[in-house]
Amino acid sequence: MQEKFYLTTAIDYVNGAPHIGHAYEKILSDVIIRHKRQVCNNVFFLTGTDEHGVKIQKTAALKNITPKQLCDENFSKFEAAWKELEISYDKIIRTTDEQHKKIVKQIFKKLLENDDIYKHSYTGLYCSGCESFLNPKDLTEDGLCPDHLKKPEEVTEENYFFRLSKYKDKIIDYIKTHPNFIQPAFRANEIINQLDNIEDISVSRTKASVQWGIGVPDDDSQTIYVWIDALSNYITAIGYDIDNPSEQFKQLWPADVQVIGKDIIKFHSIYWIAILMSLGLPLPKTIFAHGWITIDQSKMSKSLGNVIAPHDVLKSFNLSKPDAFRYYMASAALSGKDGNYSDEDFKEKVNADLANNIGNLLNRTLNMLVKYFDGKIQENFITDKNSKIAILANNTKNQVIEKFNSYELAEASNLIVSFADAVNKYVTENAPWQLAKEEKMLECAQVLYNVLEAMRYIAIMIYPYCPNIAEDILVQLNQNIDFSYKNLEWGFIKSGKITVKEKIKPVFLRLDSEFAVDKKKG
Ligand code: ME8
Ligand code: MG
Repeated sequence: MQEKFYLTTAIDYVNGAPHIGHAYEKILSDVIIRHKRQVCNNVFFLTGTDEHGVKIQKTAALKNITPKQLCDENFSKFEAAWKELEISYDKIIRTTDEQHKKIVKQIFKKLLENDDIYKHSYTGLYCSGCESFLNPKDLTEDGLCPDHLKKPEEVTEENYFFRLSKYKDKIIDYIKTHPNFIQPAFRANEIINQLDNIEDISVSRTKASVQWGIGVPDDDSQTIYVWIDALSNYITAIGYDIDNPSEQFKQLWPADVQVIGKDIIKFHSIYWIAILMSLGLPLPKTIFAHGWITIDQSKMSKSLGNVIAPHDVLKSFNLSKPDAFRYYMASAALSGKDGNYSDEDFKEKVNADLANNIGNLLNRTLNMLVKYFDGKIQENFITDKNSKIAILANNTKNQVIEKFNSYELAEASNLIVSFADAVNKYVTENAPWQLAKEEKMLECAQVLYNVLEAMRYIAIMIYPYCPNIAEDILVQLNQNIDFSYKNLEWGFIKSGKITVKEKIKPVFLRLDSEFAVDKKKG
């Protein structure tokens, strides 16, 4: 067993409510962490909200409320959304938490003491959407931020600057010597190119322009740059303190994986790494950058009016559990690639994989076991680990572990579904109903046993995506509710009655096409 596993997510801006893009990242993270709990004892999952900065300040002003009111309002929405999606975080940090603010000041002070921060006058183009100065050469032809399609604001200020350039070579070297550091690997070159022209960055704003933030220590006129504040959450949340770090921090840091979107990879694999280097802390093992989720192939945006909240999807399909949506989202894109959500595709995919492929397989098999054997497994039904299905099950398990280790979640779910496909095919080929007709009862029983054991494997492997369905399958198989991978050995279903007829019900009902409703009000 692996010793510990510490996962962090990006912390979301609370200037609005969560949408399915935010949900995508938290679902990916939750699927990873639930899998890690299956193979590792000491697992910690951190998420949170990014509550300072000019974007929040401006949104609050527009709504005529204080920034804190805006944060509280939206934080509750994020919390509720994660609850509904069964995101099993251990901690949700808010950057307005007192302890966080205290340690961010301490970190800033330390960087000053290390002579990595200096004062400098500067004119630049600031995009509040990015919370970042932009390089003029990165703007669109019309001079807009390419991500937010808004005109950045020209700012002339005397700010504190961080000597990012000092760390350039060290970071390049680290990326080149640690092939697992940036995943998927195709993003690493992008970062190395960006590092080529990296300059020192402004790490404060004047109080006159940004009031909503953590003050620079011993300087009333400046606010700490929101990205310095935000990135620090990964260590403040687990008790980092320069002089007196907590036991938890010593145990968990460095993070095993930091899950973020591809749009903020520069902040994580350059700025954050330089800060850690300056603090003399070990570096995260992996920065995993996922792709972007579009809706019906277009970018989600308030102006297009196509923003979908995760709750809208569950509601419109009448789903009381998040399993189908979790499964769909976690399988929506190959590792690191962009994905798309559409109602049609959602319905098709979960009907095919969860209802038809997996659900029906269990249902048919249990019904046959009841019909032919009164639901009772006998000692001589139990097949050994050299049966064709057992070998396939164990191979699938090993491949799934590998896929999880490289954060290829859609790839892992594809393997599980392919395995279910193969088991369905095995049933068709071996036609247990035919064997029963021919009174080859032992052969029939062994086929059913193989399928039920395979279903047990499927339940445990699909658990990170579909925790409720997985539990339902184990209940119907009359197994302990324990999803540990140590149970993935052939032959756990013992002789005895494994089910009673009343309990056999589909673990996932097909989404009825009539449920399609108008949910794009955003
Ligand atoms: O960037 N598809 O916050 P954020 C996939 N506060 N992922 C998406 C997405 C989409 N359509 N939209 C957003 C921030 N995300 C900062 C992070 S971390 C110290 C600070 C992802 O609310 C995005 O890529 O704009 C990011 O990882 C996360 O949601 C929060 O985005
Ligand atoms: Mg963003």
